[in-house]
Amino acid sequence: MAFSLAFPALTLFLIYIAYNLYRRLKAKLPPGPRPWPIIGNLYDIEPIRFRCFAAWSEIYGPIFSFYLGSQLNVVINNATLAKEVLKDNDQNLADRFRTKPLANVSRNGSDLIWADYGHHYVKVRKLCNLELFTSKRIEALRPIREDEVTSMIHDIFRDSTKQGKSLIMRSYLGLVAFNNITRLTFGKRFMDSQGNVDEQGKELKEIVSNGMKIGGKLNLGDFVPWLSCFFKDDNEALKAQDSHVDRFTRVIMEEHTLARKNTGETKQHFVDALLTLQKEYELSDDTVIGLLWDMVTAGMDTVAITVEWAMAELVKNTRVQQKAQEELDRVIGSDRVITESDMSKLTYLQSVVKESLRLHPPTPLMLPHLASANVKIGGYNIPKGTIVHVNVWALGRDPKVWKNPLQFRPERFIEEDIDMKGHDFRLLPFGAGRRICPGTNLAINMVTSMLAHLLHHFEWSPPIGIERDGIDMLESPGTVTYMQTPLQVVPTPRLPQHLYERSPIVI
Ligand code: HEM
Ligand SMILES: *[C@@H]1O[C@H](CO)[C@@H](O)[C@H](O)[C@H]1NC(C)=O
Ligand SMILES: *[C@@H]1O[C@H](CO)[C@@H](O)[C@H](O)[C@H]1NC(C)=O
Ligand SMILES: *[C@@H]1O[C@H](CO)[C@@H](O)[C@H](O)[C@H]1NC(C)=O
Ligand SMILES: *[C@@H]1O[C@H](CO)[C@@H](O)[C@H](O)[C@H]1NC(C)=O
Repeated sequence: MAFSLAFPALTLFLIYIAYNLYRRLKAKLPPGPRPWPIIGNLYDIEPIRFRCFAAWSEIYGPIFSFYLGSQLNVVINNATLAKEVLKDNDQNLADRFRTKPLANVSRNGSDLIWADYGHHYVKVRKLCNLELFTSKRIEALRPIREDEVTSMIHDIFRDSTKQGKSLIMRSYLGLVAFNNITRLTFGKRFMDSQGNVDEQGKELKEIVSNGMKIGGKLNLGDFVPWLSCFFKDDNEALKAQDSHVDRFTRVIMEEHTLARKNTGETKQHFVDALLTLQKEYELSDDTVIGLLWDMVTAGMDTVAITVEWAMAELVKNTRVQQKAQEELDRVIGSDRVITESDMSKLTYLQSVVKESLRLHPPTPLMLPHLASANVKIGGYNIPKGTIVHVNVWALGRDPKVWKNPLQFRPERFIEEDIDMKGHDFRLLPFGAGRRICPGTNLAINMVTSMLAHLLHHFEWSPPIGIERDGIDMLESPGTVTYMQTPLQVVPTPRLPQHLYERSPIVI
């Protein structure tokens, strides 16, 4: 009896598997793990996705495919193939994959990050390049960044002398990032000088973390259309988030419009830039709001994460830390604070930043691209509608390309000058091509300047009882990868006391 039931089931299953194999071969799709009926490989993927993909590429090769439900995905794991995706076939692979909740919070991609490549995208991207991320504006906003970083140094100094024990690096980095980005975009510091976040600031944080929760969910219902009725979207939560974002942003937009009318001058913050350009570029309110939040979500965590990873490597590698400090002492000395204009002279520190982004890119799979036409990559067919991931984490650790890839050795970038802004496909922390991160220069400025201040002002060591080699360097799951164990460090001041003070500025 049991046999007579099991037999047809088994036969069906075998037919299914054979059919799938046949389909993959006939369509000349990249090889990959065998998909299960209905769910595909959804439950084969381990939480730290980019590590799982790197392991799969050892089995199936540097280009492989897998299924989420019935949705085909392709992952690229080496530099040659990355070039084919982000340069040779760039235009046809520049759409975005949006899950349903993501489509909802991004208002069907009326922002930049989640927009498909097309008329709207080109317009908004042009606005970003010509108006938002110009060197003039980045320069005009420099006092904000310098103010925030000296404020961080002051806080660390206060807490290090008060407690004399280890600090959690992230809480300081997160604060600077939060203040920096919100001031750049919304033109406002949502925190008093004691570090207390005001009501509006708390609201902002809630919107951001809620948005991440909504956007980060992967539901089977997103990939198996006929199953979606079993996976109800949380409409209430979506609606609440939507109106929350709307209300919050409109209040700030009105404040700025009013201030412009009253004073007759326009400030350099992104919100002012967008409001004054709204007519000229024919932007909907949805787009203005979407863009403001794009900057906050894209800029806040990535920068802080990058600095946390770099600090972890510097605490582990005393030699590198000391060499960076020697350079700082040589270029700046110990009787003044660094300014951003010193950065161009700090070549070793710049290599430290590169080396850190090579090993620890904060968005290891970039953001998902979507094929808008059939293309060929590495000789395989990539049908229209395929999601394409570029594993930049694996690119940075490819032993075919990097000597001793796991060793943290910034000197490699002094021996060979390797670009990280999308021209050299061995190192792509910001992506490349049409979709490259528009905040690249701003981000590099911020990371370098933050590290410079941290290293100039303090010597950093692990907490008592923890070996340098005992620092946990594992990542946490997610689109942006934090350290799984927050870095704990002991700072020892190394400059005269008066250089640790902060004098707040208003711009
Ligand atoms: C170390 C810091 C940062 C890293 C490593 C980084 C990296 C990236 C990557 C890999 C992408 C996706 C590229 C692709 O899918 O092809 C991206 C997109 C983006 N980033 Fe960044 N980013 C950083 C900081 C920033 C900052 C500070 C801002 C703005 C204030 C920003 C704004 C954006 C925006 C708006 C997009 C979407 C672009 C698009 O979809 O066309 N990023 N970033
Ligand atoms: C990447 O993989 C492709 C296909 O296997 C291969 O032809 C190419 O040489 C590889 N590139 C590198 C840099 O290893
Ligand atoms: C998002 O979802 C809410 C609740 O279902 C709905 O009212 C709203 O129209 C949706 N927005 C978009 C852009 O799909
Ligand atoms: C967004 O796209 C979905 C699916 O194409 C559609 O049902 C919905 O009406 C769109 N919402 C808006 C506000 O354009
Ligand atoms: C804030 O500004 C400082 C000064 O330029 C910069 O070093 C730091 O990286 C910024 N913080 C973030 C993460 O936004």
